[in-house]
Amino acid sequence: MAIIEVQNLHKSYGALKVLKGLTLNVYEGETLVILGRSGVGKSVLLRQIMGIEFPDQGTININGKALHSLSQHEQLKVTKEVGMLFQGAALFDSMNVGENTAFYLRQHEKEVDEREIQQRVAEALAIVGLSGKQKAMPSDLSGGMRKRAALARLVIYRPKIILYDEPTTGLDPITAQQINQLINTTKHELKATSIVVTHDIHSAMEVGDRLAFHHDGKLMHITSKKEFIKIDDPLINAFFENAIVTRAYSPSSNYKNLEQIKSL
Ligand SMILES: Nc1ncnc2c1ncn2[C@@H]1O[C@H](COP(=O)(O)OP(=O)(O)O)[C@@H](O)[C@H]1O
Ligand SMILES: [Mg+2]
Repeated sequence: MAIIEVQNLHKSYGALKVLKGLTLNVYEGETLVILGRSGVGKSVLLRQIMGIEFPDQGTININGKALHSLSQHEQLKVTKEVGMLFQGAALFDSMNVGENTAFYLRQHEKEVDEREIQQRVAEALAIVGLSGKQKAMPSDLSGGMRKRAALARLVIYRPKIILYDEPTTGLDPITAQQINQLINTTKHELKATSIVVTHDIHSAMEVGDRLAFHHDGKLMHITSKKEFIKIDDPLINAFFENAIVTRAYSPSSNYKNLEQIKSL
């Protein structure tokens, strides 16, 4: 069953056309990875699915409900099921990790009592590998730990859909690999349906069930990982080659040439 259905999405900012008829389905329990160069509109797409911005044209169905035809109240109920790990993974610097973790739970579920909150904070921190770190302040954490804490804030309200925006960008290879593993753990723990937007090829291979390539306002070649790496499309080859040359594009990757990727 398609949990997220995006049909013919258009989004412009002034004269800049970013999404030009983008269509995609994400099926229950899968992780769809969207690869694409910087500035193609990957974050813009996620913001439409989150319901933070409105598309100019097209529809987004989440669990069979058309997001933009719902009342604001109903829309909130639907988007409550959707968690997004933003690119910066910003934590509130004045709050400790426990308070940061509890933040959205307190906002979303006002009726939950303090004891349950503390229990769920502990559970969420355990899932992300930060057990016992409640009292740590964000400034004490490494980049990877901050990402984990940001993920704990989502995991705690058990979203059925998780959107990850560049989850490994800016991390060293070892930390990036830990985050990849964490994305896979979270998928299994929450039985979540996920979209991971990235330009990190290694991460895409580690977490993706299906891969898609975002180019010129649309998704091209949405297909299984196995089929995706076999595609002989100059645009995708160029993307891979660029990622190999500029390792900054691909922090956890140590691929040396296109053949190496194609033989994965
Ligand atoms: N709120 C906005 N106002 C104007 N332009 C925007 C806005 N958000 C994104 N853009 C532009 O849309 C394009 C796609 O942006 P983005 O989705 O952030 O790219 P990426 O694929 O790197 O995530 C970029 O050219 C960006 O400058
Ligand atoms: Mg982006």
